[in-house]
Amino acid sequence: MDSHAIPRLDIDADNIRRRLLPHCRLKAGETWRDPDGNHSVSCADAGCTGFIEGLFAGRPAVLAIHDPPYNLVMFERQSVDEYIDWCRTWVSNTHSVLDDDAALYIWLGADQADNFQPLPQFMLMMAGTPFKARSFITVRNQRGYGTQKNWMAVRQELLYYSKGSPPFEVQYTDIPKILRGYYKEVNGTLTENLERGKSPNIRPGNVWMDIQQVFYRMEENVNGCYAQKPLKAIERIITASSKPGDLITDFFAHSGTTLLACERSGRCCVTLDIDPIFAEITIRRLEHYRATGKTGWQAGNPFQKELTPTPSPAAH
Ligand SMILES: C[S@@+](CC[C@H](N)C(=O)[O-])C[C@H]1O[C@@H](n2cnc3c(N)ncnc32)[C@H](O)[C@@H]1O
Repeated sequence: MDSHAIPRLDIDADNIRRRLLPHCRLKAGETWRDPDGNHSVSCADAGCTGFIEGLFAGRPAVLAIHDPPYNLVMFERQSVDEYIDWCRTWVSNTHSVLDDDAALYIWLGADQADNFQPLPQFMLMMAGTPFKARSFITVRNQRGYGTQKNWMAVRQELLYYSKGSPPFEVQYTDIPKILRGYYKEVNGTLTENLERGKSPNIRPGNVWMDIQQVFYRMEENVNGCYAQKPLKAIERIITASSKPGDLITDFFAHSGTTLLACERSGRCCVTLDIDPIFAEITIRRLEHYRATGKTGWQAGNPFQKELTPTPSPAAH
């Protein structure tokens, strides 16, 4: 198989960032508007209140799905307190651009080697905001990291909050119910759970075991992106907490998963990333999907055209 992988773009092997930046359409503070009129992608800081509010001008979002950075690179630069202060700002920006009845989902890690930070501090910070805590979801990864001396770390934390009373539509997995039982009398007839249920399949509940994390053999893989979330997880959130035509936002676009999920489900998306390379990848992922129907590049990459050297005439 031809592989055109590029390295993690946050680590910048081979000066890759210097080579890619000239091919990025957006500079800090600029916005790309979808020619089809459905979405926008900005290169901006999630903490920049005036800029963010301007993006929504009169049209609030009904759902925000945020996946902020929380890795070690981040913590080499700032303390947990500084990180939480920064989170407070973008959470407040989110509150201002959300409708009176809206949902907020936040992916957040917990460093088990360092008192599980920043998850507990983040949860306490959220308790001081107008958002109401609704659910603490765990998504189980297939691959994990760890040693023989500890439990392998395979979980991703996903926090669900609400503002007002947003609608919520129950979701089902592809896993059939197999257990019969839980007998109950309904209108004088003894029924069991399979007869009473709304679906022959089980609900994901707040532990999602049925979603494959993204890896290089999947079509949706975007090489260079080190923190890509599975489309299936984002689509589940979108279907549960929004309706076709609704506006959804994501302040940390990266590989553009939320934007693509919105495109595929008939929602509109306002998204941004502070890094012009990830803002460009987000736009390209949408364009690539519209041109080919493919959700990612699998073994290729979004900058394949620019990075593939043109053969010199002497080579022929
Ligand atoms: C964990 S990734 C998001 C992954 C995304 N959910 C996906 O599926 O591809 C976090 C992203 O946040 C971006 N980021 C970091 N600081 C930011 C800030 N202050 N404002 C906006 N984006 C920021 C990073 O460049 C990175 O692309």
